[in-house]
Amino acid sequence: MSDAPKLQEGAGWNAGVGARVAPSDRRGGTLRLVSSADVDSLDPARTYYVWVWLLQRLLNRTLMAYPTDPGPAGLVPVPDLAEGPGVASDGNRTWTYRLREGVLFDDGTPVTSADVRYAVQRIFAQDVLPGGPTYLVPLLDDPDRPYAGPYRDGVDGLPSVLTPDPRTIVFRLRSPFSDFDHLMAQPCVSPVPRHADTGARYGEDPRCTGPYRVAGHRPGGRLLLERNPHWDRATDPVRPALPDRVDVTIGLDPDDMDERLTAGEFDINLEGRGLQHAAQHRLAGDPVLRSRTDNPRTSFLHFVSLQPHIPPFDNIHVRRAVHHAADKVLLQEARGGPVTGGDLTTALFPPGLPSHQALDRYPTGPGLRGDLDAARAELRAAGLPDGFDAVIGTQRGKFRLVADAVVESVARVGIRLTVKELDVATYFSQGAGSPETIRKHGLGMIVTDWGADFPTEYGFLAPLVDGRLIRPGGGNWNIAELDDPEVNGLIDTVLHTADPATRTDLWREVERRVMDHAVILPLVHDKTLHYRGPRATNVFVHPAFGLYDIQAMGVTETA
Ligand code: ARG
Repeated sequence: MSDAPKLQEGAGWNAGVGARVAPSDRRGGTLRLVSSADVDSLDPARTYYVWVWLLQRLLNRTLMAYPTDPGPAGLVPVPDLAEGPGVASDGNRTWTYRLREGVLFDDGTPVTSADVRYAVQRIFAQDVLPGGPTYLVPLLDDPDRPYAGPYRDGVDGLPSVLTPDPRTIVFRLRSPFSDFDHLMAQPCVSPVPRHADTGARYGEDPRCTGPYRVAGHRPGGRLLLERNPHWDRATDPVRPALPDRVDVTIGLDPDDMDERLTAGEFDINLEGRGLQHAAQHRLAGDPVLRSRTDNPRTSFLHFVSLQPHIPPFDNIHVRRAVHHAADKVLLQEARGGPVTGGDLTTALFPPGLPSHQALDRYPTGPGLRGDLDAARAELRAAGLPDGFDAVIGTQRGKFRLVADAVVESVARVGIRLTVKELDVATYFSQGAGSPETIRKHGLGMIVTDWGADFPTEYGFLAPLVDGRLIRPGGGNWNIAELDDPEVNGLIDTVLHTADPATRTDLWREVERRVMDHAVILPLVHDKTLHYRGPRATNVFVHPAFGLYDIQAMGVTETA
């Protein structure tokens, strides 16, 4: 007999992964959320945080959207503002959408195709509106006459996006792109009415098409959402819009946040950081708390990038030696272990994607502690039987722990690494993301992670390995600067290919080919430990985002 009252039991460990906890269509009340950090932006064109993208689902609608579905169907965009999925023609080069009738902004003005086109045009104004994804720019821009956005080049530019009538929008891409519906589900294409655009300040007073609008935002303190009186449930197949208000408390210290969350003051940690050590500890001895937790994969891959342009990593035998020498168990521990660190992996694609395959190109022995004989053989083949000196780049905190575990792993075969810590805030823009910084510090190895901006094989792998996506100026994700004509060519072939099964096979080939280069040492598919409060209904981890789908939730009681 448990002495915990039955009522308080949650739905069970991991009940919100792949299924819904506390299904309900009860409306009303206030959903109480908490976050340590503020939103990056409330301008839909300028946000990149996953949790803000989930928050945007409350505020804004897009032509396509990921459905409210905890299963694999959640990975496939469905029509939202559009009446149907994009109609592709000209071998995936032309995409046409027709808008639903009767959708209004929260100021009561109708949403037209021109408002969607205007949102797309704003993405080109990266000088004024930086921060969001820019996948559409190379697909739609004319390199001979680059478009600089509506502020500098007006709204008549960008002939690749056409609005033949107020409900039709046509995109003419420069090259085929089979995942286009996914790009039409990103917040950055939420319609923006030109009459309300204030450029860089739009996020302070954005117009909304979703079931909620911003009732107040005190930066660093609190964000309040209220119902959008002009949202019409009948036009929205995606959003249940249950609570009357959403109240986000911002700026708490992570341990304080966990404390007050598990005490019932908040329903969900919006930011999805996961429970910290202190709370994890309390959980271990408390079956009720444990029954209210989920331990999903986040779809982030943690890996170490090996840099072929920094000797001796130009020698493939050196790169292979590092792969074989890796103590995978030690590295997983450095990440936080199997629950809050993640699942060990020897392949790249997250398990949710169709192309995920078992692939272990550089075995590390039966206990996964490293195959030191294989590593030494590779070092001999490289002409470096006694090892060598090199530098590994990282940042302080969790990435530092990973770097230390790499140092320890490869020291066993004579590779002597020193650790260089780069600035945390600019790590992905100007540190690991800058080819120049890497050369300046001679970083032969770099600790990093990556999560896809849309849940497809292209979305996951192309930014990491497509040579055409290297960004020399910073913000580069293809850190190893892999530029293999065969990999690039295979990616182009997939983008032309309509048949899903063929695409799956082609992506598996891309992954094998990438692993042959030995420039990515995969560590874990990341996992987090989330807590769901007992008042929250319809709680599930959204498969496309790896975090709770806030817009799906309601509350049991009016508060
Ligand atoms: N791709 C970026 C990264 O790996 C952002 C990923 C999460 N954000 C997102 N909106 N998908 O850091």
